[in-house]
Amino acid sequence: MALNVIVAKDYQELSQKVADLMIERIRQNPEIKLGLATGSTPVGMYRNLIEDHKKNGTSYKNVTSFNLDEYVGLPETHLQSYRYFMNDTLFDHIDINKENTYVPRGDVDDFEKECVDYENLIEKHDGIDLQVLGIGTNGHIGFNEPGTSFDSKTHTVELKPSTREDNARFFASIDEVPTRAITMGIDTIMKSKEILLVISGENKKEAVEKLLSGEVSEDFPASVLNNHPNVTVFVDEAAYPSANK
Ligand code: PGA
Repeated sequence: MALNVIVAKDYQELSQKVADLMIERIRQNPEIKLGLATGSTPVGMYRNLIEDHKKNGTSYKNVTSFNLDEYVGLPETHLQSYRYFMNDTLFDHIDINKENTYVPRGDVDDFEKECVDYENLIEKHDGIDLQVLGIGTNGHIGFNEPGTSFDSKTHTVELKPSTREDNARFFASIDEVPTRAITMGIDTIMKSKEILLVISGENKKEAVEKLLSGEVSEDFPASVLNNHPNVTVFVDEAAYPSANK
């Protein structure tokens, strides 16, 4: 099944289009289970969700959310932890009940247990209705790096040097970027009923090209999305290989 692709003029339009679809889904199902992502790409979309919440009153009171991943070793209070990012970028500005927002813990002693618990928690909620994803320049989704099995559940991973370099901009130096992360697996992600993949910027163009080639391989994790029945790829012109410039 070919991926449904929506090309936006620029980052602003991209963020608005994704937010509009999310708002529509939340209004259709106020008890929706969202899968959420961190990184630079979804920031504009979160800003639009907040604006809509304030202006139009879209409510998150009965929404539950599951984040994709977290750095191993960072407590929730660390400025670069994904829990901190989510609170700061979205949760603190809408009426969601924080108790219904889940981010894998990066500061536990027993990661095996944390992975199993997280997977069970998602299952207990009957799975994710709508999952937002970004893509790494190397094709990762969540922190599922190239070579990750398509059967993987929530697990811990060693981050690739390219991922640590991509994310070093958020830290004082590359040495401070954690070397491991805990992430939903590819199978976990693929079980979501609907997926929105959001991609922006010139540096993602090669990844978009690979994704849209339709070739499915564990060497390029995002390619698995070609096997999912309900994916929409939102991409801006800067990241879209055949857009005229
Ligand atoms: P980015 O990250 O939005 O910061 O580019 C995307 C990702 O690595 O999944």
